[in-house]
Amino acid sequence: MSTTKSVELATPAAETFTLTENSTGRTFELPVIKGTTGPNVIDVRKLYAETGCFTYDPGFTSTGSCASGITYIDGDAGILLYRGYPIEELAEQSDYMEVCYLLLYGDLPSVEEKEKFRRDITYHTMVNEQITYFFRGFRRDSHPMAVMCGVVGALSAFYHDSTDITDPHHRMVASHRLIAKMPTIAAMTYKYSLGQPFMYPRNDLKYSENLLHMMYATPCESYDVNPVLARALRRILILHADHEQNASTSTVRLAGSSGANPFACIAAGIASLWGPAHGGANEAVLNMLEEIGSKHHIPEYIKRAKDKDDPFRLMGFGHRVYKNYDPRAKVMQKTCHEVLDELGMKDEALLELAMELERIALEDEYFVEKKLYPNVDFYSGIIFRAMGIPTSMFTVLFAVARTVGWVAQWNEMVEDPLQKIGRPRQLYTGETQRRYTPIDQRG
Ligand code: CMC
Repeated sequence: MSTTKSVELATPAAETFTLTENSTGRTFELPVIKGTTGPNVIDVRKLYAETGCFTYDPGFTSTGSCASGITYIDGDAGILLYRGYPIEELAEQSDYMEVCYLLLYGDLPSVEEKEKFRRDITYHTMVNEQITYFFRGFRRDSHPMAVMCGVVGALSAFYHDSTDITDPHHRMVASHRLIAKMPTIAAMTYKYSLGQPFMYPRNDLKYSENLLHMMYATPCESYDVNPVLARALRRILILHADHEQNASTSTVRLAGSSGANPFACIAAGIASLWGPAHGGANEAVLNMLEEIGSKHHIPEYIKRAKDKDDPFRLMGFGHRVYKNYDPRAKVMQKTCHEVLDELGMKDEALLELAMELERIALEDEYFVEKKLYPNVDFYSGIIFRAMGIPTSMFTVLFAVARTVGWVAQWNEMVEDPLQKIGRPRQLYTGETQRRYTPIDQRG
């Protein structure tokens, strides 16, 4: 597998950037690097050695942490491409296995490649039986994301034959195992919370159908997968599969930069995804809609969202990169209507409330001025709920979908010849050096 294209394609641009230190008049020429598309970057790697200064960028709002050829976002135009393919086309025409292959290997598969990949994933879906006992250590009312962090991290204790990160075969087997086993573990967290027996995966089902089977079938009764729901889930998986250097992906890369094994790195990614500003937002959106309760209360919540002294934010709105409609939200909104129509829930009050909230927010000066649009999480929760998935499982399904993005980015990082351990510096604002005072002499 070769995912290092991006590094090869990054070329020095003709122009440079000149930095002037006003106090001394010294100037420094900083090289500019060009990607295949998108803004150029100023190469500051030698900045400290040459100037004695670091850059300061909390939240990395202006910092590129790596070169990558996997996902491209144009936040102003609302464009999202996986390996060059627009997300809308993939969501409409492709399937999740194909998208996984694309993200991992860089190109769409041939018929034979796709079949082999599907088999590789399908035959890795079972987890070591010992893992089923591991679950029993958790309380039944644990948040499923807490269980996911623990169980996925524990995979490195079970699959020792795929943790040598210098071996490309080990890396690929670990990647396949993670993509294959995440739905199984996700469904197990759900079954465990209900006190129901775990359901084994079925090799005759597709990825999203199998996930629904493991969640909803019981040993007493099979679950007939509704094709509309399976298609909706497939779309949701595709839409969430990767999103370049977001918080959880950057966490996976940072954890992996020390040489940590992929199972441990993905567990770190899951922990980062859990937060409400990131993957936890889909759960937060639903909780918020339920709290708002009625269209009449919308103005009150819009007012709160705009109030600087109130920590409340409109969940499912805004994005660090998109300053336009999140293209995933558009597909999600369409899917939401399809699912509710199919289930005869067209008049679902929550959907009406969400649409009214969206309409009011998009006309409000505050949201217009700050370019706050609905993001991917705004509608996904309503779809999940219509599918009978409990709120606490929403972020778990996001984690299932994002696993391929995490492993693709992790592989790309390990193969990158310029890869170094991630080690940011800081602006120190603490005490300067002082003498230790023995406790009996302190005032
Ligand atoms: N409601 C009200 N005001 C907002 C919101 C919001 N949802 N989002 C941003 N703002 C305001 C914010 O107060 C700030 O105002 P000011 O300039 O006056 O200080 C301005 O818009 C810029 O916000 P920011 O926090 O500096 O932007 P950011 O890029 O650091 O944060 C965000 C991006 C997604 C964390 C944020 O928009 C947010 O908290 N949204 C709600 C949570 C959410 O829906 N998250 C899911 C993101 S998409 C899926 C994913 O990535 O996992």
